[in-house]
Amino acid sequence: MKNNVFFVNDNLIENRFSSTDIHQVLFSEGVFNPQNHDFARHLPESRILVVLSGTINKLYGQIVREYFESRRGREAQKFLVVECGEKNKNLETVAEVCKAATEMNLKRKSVIVAIGGGVCTDICGFASAVYDRGVPHIKVPTTLVGFGDAGIGIKNGVNFCGRKNNIGSFSHPQLSVLDSTFLLTLDERQLRCGLAEVIKLATVYDLVLFRAVEANGDRLVKSRMQGYQEESVFILKRAVLGILELLNDNIYEVNSYARALDFGHTFSPSIEVSTNHQVLHGEAVAIDIAISSAISKKLGVLSEKDFFRLIGVIKNCGLDILHPAIDAGMLWRGLDSIIAHRNGELNLVIPAGIGACTFLRDPKELNKTLLMEALELLRGIDNA
Ligand SMILES: NC(=O)c1ccc[n+]([C@@H]2O[C@H](COP(=O)([O-])OP(=O)(O)OC[C@H]3O[C@@H](n4cnc5c(N)ncnc54)[C@H](O)[C@@H]3O)[C@@H](O)[C@H]2O)c1
Ligand SMILES: [Zn+2]
Repeated sequence: MKNNVFFVNDNLIENRFSSTDIHQVLFSEGVFNPQNHDFARHLPESRILVVLSGTINKLYGQIVREYFESRRGREAQKFLVVECGEKNKNLETVAEVCKAATEMNLKRKSVIVAIGGGVCTDICGFASAVYDRGVPHIKVPTTLVGFGDAGIGIKNGVNFCGRKNNIGSFSHPQLSVLDSTFLLTLDERQLRCGLAEVIKLATVYDLVLFRAVEANGDRLVKSRMQGYQEESVFILKRAVLGILELLNDNIYEVNSYARALDFGHTFSPSIEVSTNHQVLHGEAVAIDIAISSAISKKLGVLSEKDFFRLIGVIKNCGLDILHPAIDAGMLWRGLDSIIAHRNGELNLVIPAGIGACTFLRDPKELNKTLLMEALELLRGIDNA
């Protein structure tokens, strides 16, 4: 056990912030299957507001409604469907959720349940933090990004004034329910994006997790990480545990701006913006991981062997290490806003082996020539 994060049993992790303030993460397959009672055991007696993203409503709306109504009767909950794209991730949609909560007279001990990707869980997490000055919420993430990040952390945010996640809260769900069967309908590209975040964590923190991803590569995508493949279950649980441990080190992000989980998140914003989001977040993270690792190799921090292992894992998971729109000038310009955000520090996370990392803290530790050389190294691999 590290930082009060531990497995209570095979399918339940607890993150104990205090003896009364606890976040539980439940792993259960086919959670809305009528024969599955796992989720119901954790549901409060009180009334609940169930919010589904538009996509989840289309794919799973009926089974979700039947699940709740058969257990709790029609009156015990209200269902709300919200369209969940980045452009709807705003205060208006938060207001929609709060309005539905008001109409059903949701009280402090009632719960908002969010079922959807990171956009949906972020909107609902924030709505639950502000409605009636805070009611509990439950997140049921339906994407791999949700499993390993948005659905299990304590941050919630919506876009405001053109800035991503500009308004939000630190408030953890009382429960996260992780059902890998949702991944069966997820687009392969979205799945790869989630894998990029798993590779990020494994590289800086967990050699065992890295080996598991390395051994399976694209099979994880093709199998949609289903339970019959023991490795997938292992990877999901190990990733959740690792993320919670690392987040707890600096839970309100005030101790330090040097965070291992920022690996892959220094160059990626410029890559997303300059490609007009043609490159998705997780894809940009994979490219950033490759660039940061090439810098580490150039500096002699990462060995050649580990560098090529890392590049191999990215490629085997079907992710790119470069994009034609990327050049050193564009990446260099993008660093200004990152440095401003990190309080004048660069804090570029670079791998120092597999399962370990170090930081280039001072902006002076990186120069444009080094960046160009790193890109050259990756181009050589890509063209080989
Ligand atoms: N709060 C946090 O700590 C945190 C962490 C990471 C990301 N985020 C936020 O999460 C968002 C990204 O999350 P995401 O990658 O889950 O994106 P998303 O919510 O946009 O979902 C991605 C796509 O997959 C679809 N989808 C979701 N589940 C599906 C399923 N089971 N089957 C088929 N289609 C499905 C969605 O409709 C959408 O088109 C961003 O807004 C980001 O800011 C928050
Ligand atoms: Zn990310």
